[in-house]
Amino acid sequence: MKIFFKPFLILMIFLSYSFSLSAAEQSQKLLEPGWSFKGFFGKFDRAQLQRGYQVYTEVCAACHSMKYLSYRNLSQPGGPEFSEQQAKIIASQFEVTDGPNSDGEMFTRPGRLSDKFVGPYPNEQAATAANGGAYPPDMSVLVKARKGGADYIYSVLMGYEDPPSGMILDDGVYYNKYMPGNKIKMSQPLMSGAVEYIDGTVSSEEQMSKDVVAFLAWAAEPHLEARHKIGFRAIVYLLIITILVYFSMKKIWSRIESKV
Ligand code: HEC
Repeated sequence: MKIFFKPFLILMIFLSYSFSLSAAEQSQKLLEPGWSFKGFFGKFDRAQLQRGYQVYTEVCAACHSMKYLSYRNLSQPGGPEFSEQQAKIIASQFEVTDGPNSDGEMFTRPGRLSDKFVGPYPNEQAATAANGGAYPPDMSVLVKARKGGADYIYSVLMGYEDPPSGMILDDGVYYNKYMPGNKIKMSQPLMSGAVEYIDGTVSSEEQMSKDVVAFLAWAAEPHLEARHKIGFRAIVYLLIITILVYFSMKKIWSRIESKV
């Protein structure tokens, strides 16, 4: 009895803790705009990923790095699928620090496909100092790193409101319905018309938020489409095996059954 009691007690404490946690978290339900990449057959929308890259690079990249992405990824299958030529042009618009050269000095050169995305700040401290003491997190895997993933990030982008009366916010702090604690040290990054889409799509706040979050979701999980494809094939394969096994079972047992 004694032996069983302790793990049981720990389990109860753990359960009640996680229930109370999820109850607290559920108080603010996240927005769910519906994503093309969700679900078993989910796929990214190429045009959306290209627009999302445009929003990232024209707006978010002023503060947020994406240091695990290379310019080459922009033209790889399963992503925004810019042509290699387009990706080369994109890369060449960034200045990359390279070196040292034969004189032992660092120099800058235009970016190449193999370079990682150039970040806005040289290090975390510089980023924090430039943003009033708040670090703009790297966005390479942010969708994976946050509970609620794509829905959460979309909700934060759409969640700016006036603070409830009586709530006083410090300078540089904004009210956000979906940020834990409702306070965020990032001013609303996307106002309608913030970018002029190359493909002519109207850049409403919802549209840009959706596009940039789709882009971030792809960055965090670049092999999603390949994974879905493999999953689908595996299931078809298992189905065929099941049918074969079923009929061979029937055949093997038919002799015995017919004798009975
Ligand atoms: C002017 C700088 C700036 C720009 C531009 C900017 N951000 Fe931020 N962002 C920040 C800072 C600083 C934080 C940290 C806020 C905090 O911790 O309170 C942040 C936090 C965030 C968070 C919250 C992450 C978390 O910790 O849960 C998200 C999501 C986010 N940014 C998305 C974006 C997107 C998407 C864009 C582009 C559309 C963007 N940001 C543009 C500075 C910026």
